[in-house]
Amino acid sequence: MGYVTKMDLPPLVRGQVARLLQQRLNDAIDLDAQLKHAHWNVKGPQFFQLHQLLDSVHDAIEEAVDLIAERITALGGTADGRLKTAVNGSSLAEYPLTLRGGAAHLDAVSGALSGFGAGVRQDIEVASHLGDAGTADLFTQLSRESDKLLWLVEAHLLDLPGQEAAP
Ligand SMILES: [Fe+2]
Repeated sequence: MGYVTKMDLPPLVRGQVARLLQQRLNDAIDLDAQLKHAHWNVKGPQFFQLHQLLDSVHDAIEEAVDLIAERITALGGTADGRLKTAVNGSSLAEYPLTLRGGAAHLDAVSGALSGFGAGVRQDIEVASHLGDAGTADLFTQLSRESDKLLWLVEAHLLDLPGQEAAP
């Protein structure tokens, strides 16, 4: 671990949990940038509403980035917030560059949010198993928030052309 701390969790546990958090930090920083990309480039008749929606989802993920990074430092680790680290370490798919319409962007964004949500949901169990209830609780909070953001995005898909409800 990077720093000396009087926190009582064993250094081995803190190191394992910090690595877990760093993986999710990489994803969250990637997702943060993907959401700004969608916010800037979405086009179509619902432009302004989607432009604002994507910015509000971005702001929520920006808060998640901060929470994850500061948990790493609270554990005595170094939160690696460098973009190159995030690019190399992100498990999310690369955001397509050619998307234009609202439905296409929302489909890509919902896929990225779903991927992020799946990661944090798995992390709840891993952190709990490692004996760090505080980090497991943080991941639970992030999982709930991610589910909510996915709902906010998917709720718009039904109103867009070409997006019919499943039978
Ligand atoms: Fe903006």
